Amino acid sequence: MKEIKFEGRMVPRMVFGCGAVENIGHEINNLKGTRVLLVCDNILTQLGVTDRIKTLLDQSGVSTVVFDKTEPEPSVDTADAAARAGREGACDFVVGIGGGSAMDTAKAAGVLLTNPGPAKDYQGQNLITNPGVKTIMVPTTAGTGSEVTGVAVLINREKQLKLGINTSYVIPSLALLDPELTATLPPDVTASTGMDALTHAVESYISNSATPLSEIFSLKAVECIGRNLKKAVENGKDMEARSQMLFGSALAGLAILNGGVCASHAMSYPMSVFHGVPHGVGCGILLPRVVEHSRDAALKKAAILWETVSGEKTVAQDQAADRFIDFLYDLVVSTGLNNALKNYNISQADILSLSEKTMALAGVIANNPAPFSSEDAKAILEKVC
Ligand SMILES: NC(=O)c1ccc[n+]([C@@H]2O[C@H](COP(=O)([O-])OP(=O)(O)OC[C@H]3O[C@@H](n4cnc5c(N)ncnc54)[C@H](O)[C@@H]3O)[C@@H](O)[C@H]2O)c1
Ligand SMILES: [Fe+2]
Repeated sequence: MKEIKFEGRMVPRMVFGCGAVENIGHEINNLKGTRVLLVCDNILTQLGVTDRIKTLLDQSGVSTVVFDKTEPEPSVDTADAAARAGREGACDFVVGIGGGSAMDTAKAAGVLLTNPGPAKDYQGQNLITNPGVKTIMVPTTAGTGSEVTGVAVLINREKQLKLGINTSYVIPSLALLDPELTATLPPDVTASTGMDALTHAVESYISNSATPLSEIFSLKAVECIGRNLKKAVENGKDMEARSQMLFGSALAGLAILNGGVCASHAMSYPMSVFHGVPHGVGCGILLPRVVEHSRDAALKKAAILWETVSGEKTVAQDQAADRFIDFLYDLVVSTGLNNALKNYNISQADILSLSEKTMALAGVIANNPAPFSSEDAKAILEKVC
């Protein structure tokens, strides 16, 4: 008998539905928050979302300090600045609204409010000693799944690395998921963030750290995202596709919380640090190559992934695995991402350096089902850059 054995991690509560964000004030009251640090970015302020949330909080008798200065691919300094704003406002609660960049900044601020010193001191595994203040995360991209994960990823320019504050203390108290908030995402961001979500779903499934629990999340996520990403890119107002994407990205978040990610992520991180490549662009373009590289080691799983996404049940394992890889390549093309990396002028010397930096993510590389060396990274990067 194959024994079932795993340890699972979960977000305490999720609320999902169109219009769900309208209840945010009530949710904060229930969680006993009185002074909220609202972390978001300037684009959400321009879209009127920041004011809308602030009004909802005012109506619930909750006071708000707004920090709307998060940048894409945020740094430890931004997290420190957000925490400073929260400390100055004596905040006892954090709301993060936005993509992974805003939510990760918010999650870091949540623990920095109760732990001394700067964010960089806590990058690594389980370095936070005190629980943070309670937090609600509201995603506006269907991408990172950060609203349910136990990591806040921040660029550390001193170390020239993108590193996680990995601790259960950054798992939000509530993930509040409202698909309507994703309707304003432009097609290119829908594509890149959606490919990040798909990368989470696929990499967590083939990961050496996958568990019987994470595999359930991975497969449902692959189904939701694989069948709806193209629709959401082509018609951003298709709310069914938007809902499926947001559900899928949250499930993929639960999948990586329990099963980890693989080599696409290890390669994508240094590309963001050194060349400003958005996380989803890097992951999405690299994903088909990493699955192709890992094909033989993950043959059975690649075949199951094809069955899940296509509904085809009668194809031989080899053929199904190949079809899944083709599907990933086609999706990169049909979502318009195929040539996106060519815009970053990444030279041969850069590729060498990126390949070496990839190996710094040793824990992530160890998850890859097939061995993965800096030579493998170099060969893949030469094809896509
Ligand atoms: N914590 C985790 O578990 C986890 C997992 C994967 C990635 N990440 C991190 O998340 C970051 C990337 O997050 P992301 O991919 O969500 O992108 P992002 O947060 O950087 O957002 C991308 C762009 O979309 C804009 N945007 C967001 N929502 C919008 C909306 N509804 N309408 C219009 N524009 C909108 C943002 O302002 C930004 O310019 C990276 O730093 C990555 O490393 C974290
Ligand atoms: Fe990711």
